[in-house]
Amino acid sequence: MSYSQTHAQLLTWYEKYGRHELPWRNTKNIYHIYLSEIMLQQTQVERVQKEYYPNFLEKFPDLKTLAQASEESVIAAWSGLGYYSRARNLQKTAQTVLNELPTTQEKLIKLPGIGRYTASAICSFGHNQNIPVVDTNIARVIKRYFALLDSKEKEVWTWAEKFVNSQMPRAHNLALMDLGSLICTPKNPNCQECPLENFCQGKNEAELYTQNKKTEYESLELFFGILIKENKIALIRSTEKMYKNMLVLPQVEPIEEVYIGSFKHAYTKYRLTVHLYEVEYLEGEFIWRDIKKLDEAAISSLTKKATKFFL
Ligand code: ADE
Repeated sequence: MSYSQTHAQLLTWYEKYGRHELPWRNTKNIYHIYLSEIMLQQTQVERVQKEYYPNFLEKFPDLKTLAQASEESVIAAWSGLGYYSRARNLQKTAQTVLNELPTTQEKLIKLPGIGRYTASAICSFGHNQNIPVVDTNIARVIKRYFALLDSKEKEVWTWAEKFVNSQMPRAHNLALMDLGSLICTPKNPNCQECPLENFCQGKNEAELYTQNKKTEYESLELFFGILIKENKIALIRSTEKMYKNMLVLPQVEPIEEVYIGSFKHAYTKYRLTVHLYEVEYLEGEFIWRDIKKLDEAAISSLTKKATKFFL
């Protein structure tokens, strides 16, 4: 099957409407491309583009600097982005490869935190290799275009592979990504504006080809103690998987302390209600951090929010 007409229509659309200004699309630096892909998993483009991507690169401009940095400084640069294992794996990968990332999917996929998507994104966007890339946006486009009802992820990759434009694989994959994000949206896709509309097999029943998985949330109440001495706050190193090695507030029993306030916080599937208590004494070993320099500490968004109560 030849897709030459569809390929041409897609690229014409991309030239006109694609998000060409994104900084990671305007660099040949493979480390920058890799970093962007890790950050963009689970984080909105705008936050990455305006804030985290430039700030991280200023602190860690190359793989070697990242490899040699302290874990705390890397987590601090990631502070607020969530899913901190991404930052830890990024550093582990930098420590494994030292100066340069490998240039094949097979080798990349063996590195910490790099799965099939990231490996293919690096090879496609960084090296223009003739391979498919499938993220959630591209998967939606492919599923609708080929009417793949209930197909598993692997099958979507197979169709994406058949559909790759071997002449311009990089632009083709980026175009599919933008089409999924701007036109072929999960709800109410804008089929009238779609460059693939004439051959799309799912256009009249697009909602059938969208997964409507509802996220299950879990509510939790948390009670933290605020212990401050000489402008330093008592923190502990978390051993929980989600926040492993990050600095968090110590938990307390709610009844005995002086209540400061409460706030709501959403983190992954958790919907937390956080209560803060001022304490004068707590058992345990603490890591003390200057309350004026918490920006430089490896703390989570939750801890950052809590600090607003006393700063
Ligand atoms: N350009 C390249 N990779 C991207 C991604 N993951 N999200 C948005 N734009 C991108």
